[in-house]
Amino acid sequence: MKDIILQKLKENISGYVSGEALSSALNVSRTAVWKYIKELKKDGYLIDSSTRKGYKLDFSPDILSAGELQFNLETSILGRKIFCFESIDSTNSYAKKIAAEGCEDGTVVIADVQTAGRGRLGRTWDSTGGKGIWMSVVLRPSGSLEDVQIITLAASVAVVNALKGAVGVEAGIKWPNDIILKGKKVCGILTEMSSEIDRINYLVIGIGVNVNHNPEDFPESLRDSATSLKSHSADGFILERSQIIKRILVELEVIYKKVLNGSIPEIVQAWKRYSVTLGREVKLKIKDCEHVGVAKDVTADGKLVVSCNDGIVREVMSGEVQVRGLLGYI
Ligand code: BTN
Repeated sequence: MKDIILQKLKENISGYVSGEALSSALNVSRTAVWKYIKELKKDGYLIDSSTRKGYKLDFSPDILSAGELQFNLETSILGRKIFCFESIDSTNSYAKKIAAEGCEDGTVVIADVQTAGRGRLGRTWDSTGGKGIWMSVVLRPSGSLEDVQIITLAASVAVVNALKGAVGVEAGIKWPNDIILKGKKVCGILTEMSSEIDRINYLVIGIGVNVNHNPEDFPESLRDSATSLKSHSADGFILERSQIIKRILVELEVIYKKVLNGSIPEIVQAWKRYSVTLGREVKLKIKDCEHVGVAKDVTADGKLVVSCNDGIVREVMSGEVQVRGLLGYI
């Protein structure tokens, strides 16, 4: 109900909405409307109340709620259902749980804090409260298992497009889907899935973006390799996370539809354009072996092609790839 009142106030951002109009639109008493307005104020919204004119929204804080995120959200699949938590262990874990229970395609899970955020290759993901975007999107693509790798790359292309659109930064992609700003990591993506032998049950795309962090907000061990959007925004002001999330959902939906209609070469092309991996020296860790070489290309199905110093050309689908000059590989 609070979310609907918020939406109504936002739809009339330049004027007042009468208490009567709200109570009859929502079919609740004017006292109930007043109770929800008080809750919104407690959340940090500045709402002017006038006995004669009604309510007017003057300021929205940087908080994440379904009402905030679904207002003017220009998607048809992603974010039609959004779960927001103040704190959760991991949005990916929750998304996997509801996906297994049958939630709809495009369901989104967002948390302000993650107490056990997970990264790729079994690592932990630092999820400082109130500073970042910690979100997971459940997808149910109809295609084959081969699409999973492409969706993984596609998600990084979508995030780069979204960061350009929402904040104006030009980020790059380190294979497969780390988002890099001026040599440091600003976003990581963890794709998890459940599948049968020949079909995908669901995918969970977990996206972690460092948004309003100052350098001291990162643990000491990450300070040389992690950065935030705020550190690179023109004026250094706090960025509104809900605007960035909406943009990510819009861009992810655009690219998801491309996957669904088979426009895979276009996605691989876009990934290559944003790559900060191709043409550079890389170190591969395959099982217990390390190989150094030059990243040459990405195949049509999303594998990284590396011409290794031992003369062998290897195609890598997963695992660890370090790029010389990035994220601590000197
Ligand atoms: C990586 O670069 O290692 C991937 C990091 C992915 C982090 C995000 S934050 C939201 C979602 N929930 C998680 O537990 N992990 C992902």
